[in-house]
Amino acid sequence: VVDQLDSLVSLERGEIDRRIFSDQEIFNLEMKHIFGRAWLFLCHESQIPKRGDFFEAPMGTDNVLVVRQKDGGIKAFLNTCSHRGNAVCRAEEGNVRNFMCTYHGWTFGLDGELVGVPGSSLFYKDKLDRSKYPLRKVAQLESYRGFVFATFDETAPPLPEYLGATGRLGLDLLAERGDMEVIPGIQKFTVKTNWKFTVDNVFDYYHPQITHMSAFALGLIPAPPDNYMEGGAKSETGANLEVPFLPTDLHNVVMVGEYGHAISGPDQDALEVSTGVEPFAWRHNDETQARLGRHGSRVAGHPHIFPTTWVTAGGQLSLRVPREPGVTEIWWFSFRDKNASPEENAALLSSHIHFFGPAGLLEQEDGENWAQSTLQTKGLRSREVPQLLKMGLGTSEVVKDDGLAIIDAPINEHAQLWTYHSWREWLRNPTWEELRERTVPHDRF
Ligand code: FES
Ligand code: FE
Repeated sequence: VVDQLDSLVSLERGEIDRRIFSDQEIFNLEMKHIFGRAWLFLCHESQIPKRGDFFEAPMGTDNVLVVRQKDGGIKAFLNTCSHRGNAVCRAEEGNVRNFMCTYHGWTFGLDGELVGVPGSSLFYKDKLDRSKYPLRKVAQLESYRGFVFATFDETAPPLPEYLGATGRLGLDLLAERGDMEVIPGIQKFTVKTNWKFTVDNVFDYYHPQITHMSAFALGLIPAPPDNYMEGGAKSETGANLEVPFLPTDLHNVVMVGEYGHAISGPDQDALEVSTGVEPFAWRHNDETQARLGRHGSRVAGHPHIFPTTWVTAGGQLSLRVPREPGVTEIWWFSFRDKNASPEENAALLSSHIHFFGPAGLLEQEDGENWAQSTLQTKGLRSREVPQLLKMGLGTSEVVKDDGLAIIDAPINEHAQLWTYHSWREWLRNPTWEELRERTVPHDRF
């Protein structure tokens, strides 16, 4: 597969090979070279405020326990016993004094050290050196504005550097909404799809007008004014489908940074000018807008931290968790401002639940498409048909500003295509230096 990487993603043609969505060998490579190296989001600090609080988070195909320490620090280690490998914790989150394995009773402290071995003198004749068998720790753990990340790669650059201008802005957009905390209860559910479909869809502003037609019809998404419709979808016979989403000439700002992070969405200013409505997106006060800068306050869309962390304009964060080539778990963290009123928070939570997650109309609509698209990558003949990401190819320009590569163009598929380019470069297993260089778009649009 490594020899074929060039043919799997073609930036020139805007084509990708369907095999990347179902091959086990490619999935294994992804786990090793992407999830085994990247900084991955684990949880928000507000989820584990007190000593002994823990949260179980996925890192590729591994599960780690993120634990608040006695000294207030945070550590993360694999949830697998150093004796025979049983999970040392069966709960998804909670508070503990220590972790006792249910198989033979080995017990580990909050720092992962082995503190208790039943029958240590009787069965082991006191010959077992407990200091040698702690729970295996992640290589690095860091927090950026309360968002906790970890990596298995001790040579990975520091987190703020990994995030770069794009990734930091993505998290700033959420952090700047107020004194943010996670609303207790993480929504988790499974979709029969490859994880990459759930990721590239973050940038797909072409699908809502069709996929989410019912959300418009139900008024889940506020009804747009009349002139919002002008550039909308037309059927073959020319009849307006009556639920178009975005005018075709609306500018879609794409910001791409090193390592594959990207932010994509309609330009807030253009949206307001063209429609007269305040977009259903980031709206910060003057002070926070100033802190976010010109670019940060401009985009009304979705930031994505490579490989699988999506921050939504509504104030949620989603993890797309690959379990198998065709099975992905989706996790939703909902955030609220600690200073908001109970009524405001209730309304916010209700909107979160109705948009995304197992009860979210938008994600159920998306999920069916992703599952069908994944299924069709398995057919012997179907898999030979390339997938297309050509929209905007060759007609857009890249501007470099504030460490961001910015593409200001009508609705396009640049962010998806570039994400696949970054994905391919990660699979080559380059040095961090090479990776940073190769994943930034220069003049390739
Ligand atoms: Fe954990 Fe034996 S497997 S104590
Ligand atoms: Fe969608």
